[in-house]
Amino acid sequence: MREPTATEGENGAVVAVTATSAVASPPQALVERLKDYGQEDVFALWDELSPDERDLLVKEIESLDLPRIDRIIRCSLRSQGLPVAAIEPVPENCVSTVEERTMEDREKWWNMGLKAIYEGKLAVVLLSGGQGTRLGSSDPKGCFNIGLPSGKSLFQIQAEKILCVQRLASQTMSEGTTRSITVHWYIMTSPFTDEPTRKFFSSHKYFGLEPDQVTFFQQGTLPCISKDGKFIMETPFGVAKAPDGNGGVYAALKCSRLLEDMASRGVKYVDCYGVDNVLVRVADPTFLGYFIDKGVASAAKVVRKAYPQEKVGVFVRRGKGGPLTVVEYSELDQSLASAINQVTGRLRFCWSNVCLHMFTVDFLNQVANGLEKESVYHLAEKKIASVNGLTTGLKLEQFIFDSFPYAPSTALFEVLREEEFAPVKNANGSSFDTPESARLLVMRLHTRWVIAAGGFLTHSVPLYATGVEVSPLCSYAGENLEPICRGRTFHAPCEISL
Ligand code: UTP
Repeated sequence: MREPTATEGENGAVVAVTATSAVASPPQALVERLKDYGQEDVFALWDELSPDERDLLVKEIESLDLPRIDRIIRCSLRSQGLPVAAIEPVPENCVSTVEERTMEDREKWWNMGLKAIYEGKLAVVLLSGGQGTRLGSSDPKGCFNIGLPSGKSLFQIQAEKILCVQRLASQTMSEGTTRSITVHWYIMTSPFTDEPTRKFFSSHKYFGLEPDQVTFFQQGTLPCISKDGKFIMETPFGVAKAPDGNGGVYAALKCSRLLEDMASRGVKYVDCYGVDNVLVRVADPTFLGYFIDKGVASAAKVVRKAYPQEKVGVFVRRGKGGPLTVVEYSELDQSLASAINQVTGRLRFCWSNVCLHMFTVDFLNQVANGLEKESVYHLAEKKIASVNGLTTGLKLEQFIFDSFPYAPSTALFEVLREEEFAPVKNANGSSFDTPESARLLVMRLHTRWVIAAGGFLTHSVPLYATGVEVSPLCSYAGENLEPICRGRTFHAPCEISL
């Protein structure tokens, strides 16, 4: 309710003013504090606000850590466009490529990973605090049904992959006496996704997982700003805010005391990934085995960059002998982006980051302390809802890969796009990374699995537009499908389930 204001009567006299009180000013001390940081405009519409709205605005401003936010805004704006330290390609010995990987390696790592999972040493962290603005769904991205025959949501597909890995670890390791094991799943939400995510899990009975093996925790938010660093107002009495990027996971794990929780469960390794990759191999035993075998503190799965101008961040070495880090496509000079390694004939900077990471819990502890002091955030230009409608503004974000320079050792593990990367970023109708493109990638891969396992397909629409879907409850990565598929004919599209 707005405070009553004076209105003009028919005869032009000022009438019908109901109990108007003198317009109170915003609290002076708060205005002075805001002036210190050039943000006093947040009170610009004060006179139009009702008492309740004024209250809300004052409370919101009081809750902001203004010195920290100001430092982040100034440092981040200042660092824009500064020359970045010279970069070098990732040394070959830091990467396990698909072509050099032998069957023995794969088997060894798969078994090492399953053993560690069986021993309760792996936890999974899901990054699910993003607003998914490009996809345009009002629900959290994980609730999205991309149109597979099963109609499963991204959350369900990922939960079932965890169930499958648990079963595989139990069957392989417990020599006949299947002991049930659980992989703990930590799900990072934000104020925008928290409640609907929890409700979705609870209304779907945690997709068959034990409710107490899932822990939700929230990441922080930061004000959205204009290019000159001013807070954008979402409403006349509320600052537009956004989650502080998927790199907010480090601080959020620390603040929620979840690193201690992991330690108390005996967790040593953490698999960390984004919610919007339908082909993600959650809790991948092979990647975990590789990670343990290498003895590194951090690792990332990478795919080969498809072409020089592809809009993906690539891993590089920062400075001579420096740490591995990711350079975004916008920061990579065109000549470097297309530079060719004369020996291999391939791109020099070819290892694309696809947000699939493995860390030790020890490293997560170190990095949470280091990144906390970091004041330079990435500035992501996005459409932001504001009092003036949708406006272009900046979100301040840390990225998950900001931790890599802190890692004493990092290894990269090449995977094939067509096996492990089906991103859902944009709404259907866009030219790439849509639910439809991801659906087709899943069905093509699963069709190959079924045919390799001796199955047959019939289809009444062209095969390139259809295929089969294999439930993660049947198979994690194409294994164990022969008993289900050999000699059988499936009519696409359909789901193959237990
Ligand atoms: P994106 O960078 O693609 O962002 O996130 P988004 O929020 O999903 O989508 P847009 O940009 O608004 O369209 C990559 C992954 O990081 C997570 C997302 O949930 C997704 O899994 N993420 C992103 C967070 O967990 N927190 C954030 O603050 C941002």
